[in-house]
Parts: sequence; C-alpha cells; structure tokens
Amino acid sequence: MKLCFAPMDWITNWATRYITENIFEQYKEKEDTLQTRTEFMNADGFVINPWWVAKHLLTIQTKNKPIAQLFWWRKENLLKATSLLIENFKENFSWIELNTWCPSNTVMKCWGGSDMLKHRPETLDIIKELSNILKDSWLTFSVKSRAGLNEEDKKEQLWFLIEVSKYTDLLTVHWRTLKQLYMWEADFYFIKKVKKEASCPVIANGWITSYEQASEKFKDFNWIMIGQWAIGNPWIFTKHQPTLDEKIDTIKKHLSLMITTEFRFEKYIKPMKNYTFPQPTIKELEHLEKGIDYNTPYHSIVEFRKYAFQYLKGIPCSREIKQWILQKKTFNEMLEILSLLKNK
Ligand SMILES: Cc1cc2nc3c(=O)[nH]c(=O)nc-3n(C[C@H](O)[C@H](O)[C@H](O)COP(=O)(O)O)c2cc1C
Repeated sequence: MKLCFAPMDWITNWATRYITENIFEQYKEKEDTLQTRTEFMNADGFVINPWWVAKHLLTIQTKNKPIAQLFWWRKENLLKATSLLIENFKENFSWIELNTWCPSNTVMKCWGGSDMLKHRPETLDIIKELSNILKDSWLTFSVKSRAGLNEEDKKEQLWFLIEVSKYTDLLTVHWRTLKQLYMWEADFYFIKKVKKEASCPVIANGWITSYEQASEKFKDFNWIMIGQWAIGNPWIFTKHQPTLDEKIDTIKKHLSLMITTEFRFEKYIKPMKNYTFPQPTIKELEHLEKGIDYNTPYHSIVEFRKYAFQYLKGIPCSREIKQWILQKKTFNEMLEILSLLKNK
C-alpha cells in the first residue's frame, strides 16, 4: 500500500512526522511506503512575515522528503511563496500541495481552503499557473480537496477534480462535502469515480481507522491517507501492536523532540532572514536533547498534552491520568506519571 500521513495543523509538526516515519521504517510491510506532509502554511504569512509561520517548514532529512502544504489569501503571494520554497528549500521537500480542503471559517474568509471551490474557474487558473512554475523545478505538484460544497455540488466537483488532475501529479480527495464537516458515514463512491477518470493517482482520505481496515476495506484504492487515528498512534501505518513500554519510550522521545523545536525556533527561525533557515541534523538534535532542563516548564509540555492523551487512550485509568497530565508542566513531572504507569 501507498500510505500517507494526513497534514494536520498543530499536529504534524516535524517531531511528530519524524517519530511516525521512524516507527514505520522499523515495522513496515515490505511493499508499503509512507508519504508525509507538513501542516499547512499560510503563503501570505510566509511572504509578509516569514518567521511567524516558517516553523511549519521545519523538517529533518529522512529517507522520504515530506510534501510542503500551502494555503493562501492573495494569488501573488501564493505564487511568490511557491517560488521562495523552490529557491530556498530544495533539499527539504519533494512536493508542494495546494489546500482546497480546509473548512475553517478563518481560512475560507481569506479565500483559502474550501472557499476555492466556490470560485472554480479562478482556482483552476491558479492551479495551472502553479503547475507551470513547478514544471521545471525539482518539485512535483499535488492538490488536496473534498467531495464538493454539498450534495448537489458533487457533480460539478467531479468535473473540477478531473480537470485539476490534468495539471497535478497527485490528488487527495476527502470523501466529505463542506456541509458534512466531520460527520457522516464514509462513502467512498465519490472518490472511486474520481479515481476512475482522473489523469493522476488519487489518494482516498477520511475516517480510516486502522491498518487492517485500510488494507481490507480500501483495497480498491492504492493510495490511502490517515489523519486523526494516527495521532498518538504512529504504529497505525504498520501491523505492529505496541506494548505499554514501547508507548512510554515513544512518548518520552516525542516529547523531547518537541522541546528541541522550541530551542531551534528561538535560535534560527525567529531571527531568520531571506526566507530561509538551516534545517536541523540528527546530530544537532541529539546535542539539543542533552540541553533539556527537566525542571523547566517548557511550552511544549503543554502542547504535548493532545498527543499524550491519545497515546494513553484505552489504557486502564486513562481518565485519571489525563487529569494528572493537565497539571504537569515539566519533563520530570511527566516522567513521574510515565514511571507510575510502568509500575502498574
Ligand atoms: C486538527 C486537524 C488539523 C488539520 N489540518 C489540516 C491541514 O493543515 N491541511 C489539510 O489539508 N488538512 C488538514 N486536516 C484534515 C486532515 O488532513 C484529514 O483530511 C481529515 O482529518 C480527515 O481524515 P481522517 O478522518 O483520517 O482524520 C486537519 C484535520 C485535523 C483533525
């Protein structure tokens, strides 16, 4: 199977992608591959105030380079941000993806995400321009979208996606319409229709909850994208079922990598110039990890809670543990909770 880790804002930062990829390499089935994406980055933000959004571009060199995802407000900034990525991040990304998926009001108010589906002729022109810019570069081009604005809109969206597929190398289709938001039972019929007629490979996305489900129920799709069920469950892209000890070791590693991001942000991203910054090496991260003060209340410890809750979901007393975690602010306090779990 060709598996993809869905881009998720505030979730798929570089530390999470790194943990997920490492686990995949360790336990993957021989024929499987895993593609990752950055959280979406506001192209306008990058052009106007790069240090504010550039943390989304933080990545570490692994076997497979991630796809960098963009959304936008002004067309000229989308095109400029794309050119800046081509110039400055050649070594770090393999693709650029345009987000025409996002249902958030804040993004849609700025003409981004799903709002692009309300202006299909203009969106198609932009996609053609992006495709042109990327044609002669090292990057390939991908678009993420959904089943349309509502049920009645599906027919037009089908036509639109088939057109889009002529200008992209890859197309991700989420089966819900904008109106359905996060609810409703999965109906992959729409994606099957796109897959049948599209000129490029199509990735199926939405509500895929396990490796087994992906390989059995979705065997008609050779590309599968998993999002929410991979949060705190980086093993989902493999058949491996982790032990509690493995989970605890992964939590520690994930948390310490999140803290190193904080160090790097202060050192390289905040003062960044010319739209670029040096990407970390494994060696540098190991060095930064040694500099973590176990009694300092880092912001990353609070940010890590959403992953911790998911990692520990389903284990006995997970509700009580959640309450403890909410009170913890230092690495040492988190380690105390984890050692209690180990000794249970
Ligand atoms: C917290 C969160 C943040 C998301 N951020 C993005 C994003 O930045 N770009 C994007 O294309 N999709 C984003 N998505 C959508 C996911 O990529 C995915 O399409 C959606 O969650 C459905 O897949 P799933 O059912 O496997 O989670 C986000 C979803 C969630 C839950």
